[in-house]
Amino acid sequence: MPDFIPQCNPAALVEELRSEIDAAIARVLQGGPYILGPEVEAFEAEWAKWSGVAHAVGCANGTDALELILRSLDRPVGSRVLAPSHTAVATIAAIVRSGHRPMLADVDPYTYGLDPASVARCLEAAKAEGDPVRALIAVHLYGHPVDLDALQELCNSYGIPLVEDGSQAHGTRWRGQRVGSFGVAAGFSLYPTKNLGALGDAGVITCLSSEHAARLKRLRQYGWEQPAISEEPGVNSRLDPLQAAILRVKLPLLEAHNRHRQAIAAVYREQLMGQATVKLPAGADERAEPVYHQFVVQLPEPQRDAVRARLAELGVGTLLHYPQAAHQMPAYRGQAWVELDPAGLPATEALLPRILSLPMGPHMSLDQAAQVAEMLVQAIEGTR
Ligand SMILES: Cc1ncc(COP(=O)(O)O)c(C=O)c1O
Repeated sequence: MPDFIPQCNPAALVEELRSEIDAAIARVLQGGPYILGPEVEAFEAEWAKWSGVAHAVGCANGTDALELILRSLDRPVGSRVLAPSHTAVATIAAIVRSGHRPMLADVDPYTYGLDPASVARCLEAAKAEGDPVRALIAVHLYGHPVDLDALQELCNSYGIPLVEDGSQAHGTRWRGQRVGSFGVAAGFSLYPTKNLGALGDAGVITCLSSEHAARLKRLRQYGWEQPAISEEPGVNSRLDPLQAAILRVKLPLLEAHNRHRQAIAAVYREQLMGQATVKLPAGADERAEPVYHQFVVQLPEPQRDAVRARLAELGVGTLLHYPQAAHQMPAYRGQAWVELDPAGLPATEALLPRILSLPMGPHMSLDQAAQVAEMLVQAIEGTR
């Protein structure tokens, strides 16, 4: 039997880069500073340049990145903030942490991004109630861009800021431009399994003006403009310089890793195209260039779990991103302050029992991708 192929394996990359990472850590250990300082500033500048955005501000994690952005928008406490229910629940946690109320829209079951028709319904219903949506978070889920043309137009016509959640979309392009520069600001998680991952928690925000960057820097550190004097009530969410130094080792490899992910996706697509029971995710087209943080297929509902178990026996790791949508989770289900598209979330609810995330990342070869596809077909046939 071939070696086990894990769904992801960030440790493999650490082994490959071990001496450069050790040197980066040693640089910080020798004299610091151990809070903020030159490594954080250098990473911020390098991330901004790589993303093609004017400014970047490091912070402690991706959830905080979104919270800091929402705080910086100065919406009245308790405002409705629109987001997909089908996302990492962190997106919704950030809305609640910033003192607002999530309003949850449906997604397109092919791109997995916000469905503009559902967004329009939510915006109109909220407006009609005199309690308008005051910001929208667009999540580029699995590394595929949302329909930014449609969402920007809706945000413009309702006069609300578009915030991007680019946590799964490091390097994703829309009309040739990297995401993170379409909205007023974008939050990125740098969690270890992300396309660019730290070796612990880390996050970064991109934004368009130096004033906005300065405000975000103030908010991430108690509201300080100068040491120990708070101008406003901020939080503590600084990017750790050790993580910044490690991220600087890995950033130059991100483009090549994204290309490798795209090549794995191409192998999956080629081998699975003829399988009537496997629904493939949206790929690149004239507007979208995905970076495949995940490659998520859909299988017939009653068969998905059996296929997953069989794949594990065959030596293939898979994951579910995610087992539940936010509105189905105990924390948010049935809460009066969590609202849904008035038409419900039928696409989200239909896709959840069908999705399966195949192995994806720089830890695996194209040959292994071909083996995974072959074993998926075998598992489907064996569980019919
Ligand atoms: C789409 C999305 N948003 C937000 C987050 C939150 O990031 P973090 O875990 O770094 O707080 C994540 C990562 O888990 C994510 O995938």
